[in-house]
Amino acid sequence: MAAPADFLNFIDVNKDRFIQRLARAVEIPSVSGDPAHREDVFRMASFLETQLKQYGVETKAVELGTHIMDGQTLKLPPAILGRIGDDRAKKTILIYGHFDVQPAQLSDGWDFPPFELTRDEKTGRLYGRGSTDDKGPIFGWINVLDAHHTLNKPLPVNLRFCFEGMEESGSEGLDEFILAEVKKGKDSWFDGVDAVCISDNYWLNTRTPALTYGLRGISYYRVTVSGPARDLHSGAFGRMVHEPMTDLIILMSKLVDPQGNILIPGIDEMVPPPDEEERHLYRNIDYSLEDVEISTGAKITISEDKASALMGRMRSPSLSLHGIEGAFYGAGGKTVIPAKVTGKFSIRLVPPQTPENVDPLVVKFLSAEFAKLGSKNSINVEDLHGGKPWVEDYKHWNYEAAHRATEAVYKQAPDYMREGGSIPVTLTFAEALGVNVLLLPMGRGDDGAHSTNEKLDTSNFIEGTKLLGSYLHEAGAGTKAR
Ligand code: BES
Ligand code: MN
Ligand code: MN
Repeated sequence: MAAPADFLNFIDVNKDRFIQRLARAVEIPSVSGDPAHREDVFRMASFLETQLKQYGVETKAVELGTHIMDGQTLKLPPAILGRIGDDRAKKTILIYGHFDVQPAQLSDGWDFPPFELTRDEKTGRLYGRGSTDDKGPIFGWINVLDAHHTLNKPLPVNLRFCFEGMEESGSEGLDEFILAEVKKGKDSWFDGVDAVCISDNYWLNTRTPALTYGLRGISYYRVTVSGPARDLHSGAFGRMVHEPMTDLIILMSKLVDPQGNILIPGIDEMVPPPDEEERHLYRNIDYSLEDVEISTGAKITISEDKASALMGRMRSPSLSLHGIEGAFYGAGGKTVIPAKVTGKFSIRLVPPQTPENVDPLVVKFLSAEFAKLGSKNSINVEDLHGGKPWVEDYKHWNYEAAHRATEAVYKQAPDYMREGGSIPVTLTFAEALGVNVLLLPMGRGDDGAHSTNEKLDTSNFIEGTKLLGSYLHEAGAGTKAR
């Protein structure tokens, strides 16, 4: 059923208040990957829990134990669970989101303080870390609760929430919790869930709403080369000793070529090529090379063909080199031989790849290539975290509901797409609950998640909130067959 007009109107009328609430969330720098910000992730968890409670949601903050990060033992932030509605005649939808964010500093090149929500009046853009990933969407759901609560309207479905604070750091602790919880059967927090909806990705372009039915998995690696016991003077020791940085750069240069081909034997080969029907799918998506240019700010696509470009992102694995720790030694021309350097890279995975079947190939290749260098330094390869890829059946009522909601709010049909990024918990929900999972994006392809000047357009926040609410009304249409 279409969302009621008074709900839609409420969202428009309360726009400024919703933006202010999002601003409060962005002001909490809940960076999960930085131990110095761990307290902030906890603060963000409480803020979110308070917001949920305010609208009659029963909540529970689940302790997930501790973990080690950068050599420190840290408490994991809690997952915030919520439940509202127990009407057996209604469907039950589980909503997931994450309240942690990527690191950000003004000195990274931001034009605005990253942990303040800056509104550009001319464009309507809302700049700030987490605006699109993933605080905007989370607060979209809160807005939907707010509207129904304030208007005294029953929700069209029973809702369950699972919000986590470690997504950007590999969802530490969450899988174990979900699997243990599901085992409780009738007493499980997730009992009775009919479908899952996750709003944590973006449209492909800047104009066409999208439904997403696939995600790449990921395997994240750290390779450390060490040799001398301390940093050395390059004048005193250059060409006298093996240099860790030299070894590491050679190793990293052997992983991937400039065309994106993965050079580790056996990895690209695992993925079957697309057939004609699948190619057709990519040709039909509303996308152009110009959209890549808008999102990246440069003309740098590997392929000049749109379908190939899309396939590179959606249905092929990719290997990215992220950086070298220990490599930046002060300003100016400091003449040092770093004693220990750590290269970071990750591989995005597609079916049938998994961290389990890819990791051994990576470790074996790096050891073999290192042996060829004839270096007396030592190497250590670690996998930091991983997640399996996921592809869903989009001919399902869950997607049909989102399709109708998209048409109602945006007056156009959505693109159906697979996403190049990863949300590790998606497959866990799909497998552990055995239900359909839908990815329903709020933001646009040029939002710049993880980048400088991350933003969410006001219209995406507001129409996106309507979309999330409308989706619930469409999903809840009719009574539930039991
Ligand atoms: N929201 C993203 C997932 C995403 C990325 C969707 C790009 C669409 C495009 C999520 O917050 C994220 O950043 N995930 C990490 C997961 C990783 C740390 C395991 C990612 O994809 O790098
Ligand atoms: Mn995200
Ligand atoms: Mn992210």
